[in-house]
Amino acid sequence: TSAPITTISSLSAHEGQTITLRGWLYNLRASGKLLFPIFRDGTGTIQGIVPKAAVSEEVFNTLKELTLESSLTVTGKVRADSRAPSGYELDVESIEVLQRVHEDTPFPISLKEHGVDFLMEHRHLWLRTPRQSAILRVRATIMRAAAEYFDTNGFIRTDPPILTPNACEGTSELFEMDYFDDDKAYLTQSGQLYIEATALALGKVYSFGPTFRAEKSKTRRHLTEFWMIEPEVAFLELDGLMNLAEGFITHIVTRVLESHRADLKVIGKDIAKLEAVIAPDSSIEKNAVILSGAKNPEAASPAHTAEDLSATEPGGRPHDSGTSTFTNPPNRFPRLSYDEAHAMLEEAYKAGKLEAPHKYGDDFGSPDETYISSQFSKPVMIHRYPAAFKAFYMQPDPLDPTKALCVDVLAPEGYGEIIGGSQRIHDYDLLKSRIEQHDLPLAAFQWYLDLRKYGSVPHSGFGMGIERAVAWICGLDHVRETIPFARTLNRIYP
Ligand code: 4AD
Ligand code: MG
Repeated sequence: TSAPITTISSLSAHEGQTITLRGWLYNLRASGKLLFPIFRDGTGTIQGIVPKAAVSEEVFNTLKELTLESSLTVTGKVRADSRAPSGYELDVESIEVLQRVHEDTPFPISLKEHGVDFLMEHRHLWLRTPRQSAILRVRATIMRAAAEYFDTNGFIRTDPPILTPNACEGTSELFEMDYFDDDKAYLTQSGQLYIEATALALGKVYSFGPTFRAEKSKTRRHLTEFWMIEPEVAFLELDGLMNLAEGFITHIVTRVLESHRADLKVIGKDIAKLEAVIAPDSSIEKNAVILSGAKNPEAASPAHTAEDLSATEPGGRPHDSGTSTFTNPPNRFPRLSYDEAHAMLEEAYKAGKLEAPHKYGDDFGSPDETYISSQFSKPVMIHRYPAAFKAFYMQPDPLDPTKALCVDVLAPEGYGEIIGGSQRIHDYDLLKSRIEQHDLPLAAFQWYLDLRKYGSVPHSGFGMGIERAVAWICGLDHVRETIPFARTLNRIYP
């Protein structure tokens, strides 16, 4: 045929015309002398209408017997239909089958419910279903928007090595391998240490790539292989880092809302929850109410008002760590110190809203994080955790050296930590003693210590796991659906 080849996503340009689509048979309903095939082509789905009288007998019979997920080209006339999800239906004229799925081996993913193990075992085919495709489209936008935020704010992308001689985030979660003769290599857990070096060369940098952790935890948040984007900035201190994280998340959510409302609907995400994240803030009052009950008066004070941020100037002096040098919305995400978060949990426990008390000095458990984040409609930043259970490289708080100048960003709706970051130790002797205290091999960290020997400056950065962000933004129960092929403790197939 001579009909133009097009895609389901661009049918609006072809209303009333006869066109050809290339794709797969997604579903088929027959009703006497009428067939209702649904075609998919990667860009969407469209329903065809095939009255027996309107096509040749051969076309009708071929389609009537066609098996799901058979590949084909279909030619037909595009008709607008406001009831159709895509806005159009196709009056089928002819089809050409490219590969017919054999009836003895039908497509394993039917439209009925399947167990998770079955679906993961058939992940290579599960990806074809509309919901999974929608998630992958949103993931792609999240990755693009994340890189775009840094690219358009003067950051240089510097990719760290995947094979490394030492640990970044603790030695227990390392994937180890032989590296020729007598050497060992480890799959990277984070590019941070390397981009600290590139930040001191280039000022503002980021890395974006796969990272690996031999996590023994079987939770809905943990993968053994995940993608992390990490900015690192010379002369940036903790407050500026929190501004950066806020601008970054706001940008990503804005981009997703710009172009994925239909996908989010297919996935089943409550879009209003995302709109609340980027909305000009009315919940500052709500936050203030909650914070006023907390211990540290500083965080409840107007330290984070619009006035404070009006000091922000694009391209401002980098030494102004309290103000931001990034395209940044006003401080709209609530910020709580560890102490304040602890106080909030204590009250919740007393009020019977939490099953177990949070022990001061311990990290927050999942139920703790879920409770805290459910108190806000925006991501919440928790800063200044006890240094005792945090990474060796974190700068101590000068006001209380038992605390680290670090921040975790908890996503709303109980999704927990999506970002972890900190100001880094810039003093040579302090860093050396921390490496020793953590029983890390000094020799492997010699180059890292060098960074504190040659023009050391305060610097900060964070890492965001893409899959955690996708899970939150799409509203998914488990990170296994956020990446094309999830690697977890008990699955490495397909
Ligand atoms: O908090 P983490 O361990 O921080 C770092 O790796 C720092 N070196 C980053 C930096 O400062 N440049 O990990 C950062 C983020 C977490 O907040 C989470 O989003 C994600 O990485 N993450 C995981 N995502 C999926 N599966 C896992 N097992 C993850 N572990 C961390
Ligand atoms: Mg963390």
